[in-house]
Amino acid sequence: MQSDRPLNNELDPIEIASRDEITALQTTRLRWSLMHAYNNVPHYKNKFDAAGVHPNDFNELKDLAKFPFMTKKDFRDNYPYGLFAVPRERVVRIHASSGTTGKPTVVGYTRNDIDNWADLVARSIRAAGGRAGDKVHIAYGYGLFTGGLGAHYGAERLGCTVIPFGGGQTERQVQLIQDFQPDIIMVTPSYMLNIADEFERQGINPVNCTLRIGIFGAEPWTDQMRTAIEHRMGIDAIDIYGLSEVMGPGVANECIETKDGPVIWEDHFYPEIINPETGELVPDGEEGELVFTSLSKEALPVIRYRTRDLTRLLPPTARSFRRMGKITGRSDDMLIIRGVNVFPTQIEELILKTPQLSAHYQLEVFRDGHMDGMVVNVEIKPEHSGAKNAMDQAAKELQHHIKSFIGVSTKVNVLDVGGVERSLGKAKRVVDKRPKP
Ligand code: DLL
Repeated sequence: MQSDRPLNNELDPIEIASRDEITALQTTRLRWSLMHAYNNVPHYKNKFDAAGVHPNDFNELKDLAKFPFMTKKDFRDNYPYGLFAVPRERVVRIHASSGTTGKPTVVGYTRNDIDNWADLVARSIRAAGGRAGDKVHIAYGYGLFTGGLGAHYGAERLGCTVIPFGGGQTERQVQLIQDFQPDIIMVTPSYMLNIADEFERQGINPVNCTLRIGIFGAEPWTDQMRTAIEHRMGIDAIDIYGLSEVMGPGVANECIETKDGPVIWEDHFYPEIINPETGELVPDGEEGELVFTSLSKEALPVIRYRTRDLTRLLPPTARSFRRMGKITGRSDDMLIIRGVNVFPTQIEELILKTPQLSAHYQLEVFRDGHMDGMVVNVEIKPEHSGAKNAMDQAAKELQHHIKSFIGVSTKVNVLDVGGVERSLGKAKRVVDKRPKP
């Protein structure tokens, strides 16, 4: 299903540079970033001093490991502007992400930061197969969330025609996709499925719409989900990764010609993978927690920010930069069901291998004596709607697969079409029904 438009030659030279050139650029920029953070943010100065390190101790990339990590807590403790490294007047934009507990995480951007962000999202859309002149329908939420505006500025920067729809109003999304005939859609994968359902509800086969490419991110999704979306929509489904603390969408993006995991834009973000328990670095190829250090950000430098996202670093393919594997989950998403570690993405894979089941699902976790138990709620595909036998059969199959592949006993409820709560942005995959401690 690869787009048959030829790839043109608009790559940034650094995307195809040698490893030596990349290392040299990273080293120079890292030194600047450490110094910038230390000199302008008291919180960083205190942390570095307490750890007995100074930016002058950084001479080569491996010296970064001497510096302390930061987490969401550093943001919370410095709410709202305490981590800014420039006078507030130089901050031209604020975004925020809602935390699970209490205060949101606040991030800021200088004019240069916004400029770099637009460049990197433009580079991401281009990697996904987008070109100047394409029409881009943006269904990521606009507002404090980085998805909408991040995608918007990048698509404009590439020279696209932007349709800034935002999230929600699914019926109208379909109408405008029919009328405005976009080439590209940028949206969460779970909301793409809702849009696909709405097409079908209106009696339109979404394969026949003009969309050629979908750029999907902001939540974990599996390769099985990619295949399901590509078949339903008749598009190439490409993975875009990012997080507000580090910038927003476009920290990494997959290339359409390989679809083998997002390429990390290593000229602006230095990635490391650590063992989440010990904090030790793990070698490329091994799974662990992704950690980022920003190399160019002015308003809000992040030094060794622990993302909680679990993945691996992979060798370069379509570009000179390293790639990341698809995110398997967040360390805080991991469920421990009857002593077995389970990520929602593992369940997603098995659901999508069960032919009668749709991709709409939600997990419920409850307390069962001293252990945690799980119920998988998943919808039957519309063609089997109301067919009790097919639903019972699918429930049995899925339960069996979960037991044999993940090793945990769960209850599976196969629901009729519309039985699972729909998302308008990031899907809520887990409902926690355990008593609050
Ligand atoms: O979700 C930024 C974004 C917007 C990325 C649009 C891509 C597209 P936050 O709200 O701060 O920012 O959430 C960041 O979402 O740490 C991951 O856990 C998850 N995430 C983002 N992209 C992906 C992806 C935006 N492609 C958090 N695959 C991150 C898996 C993703 N998880």
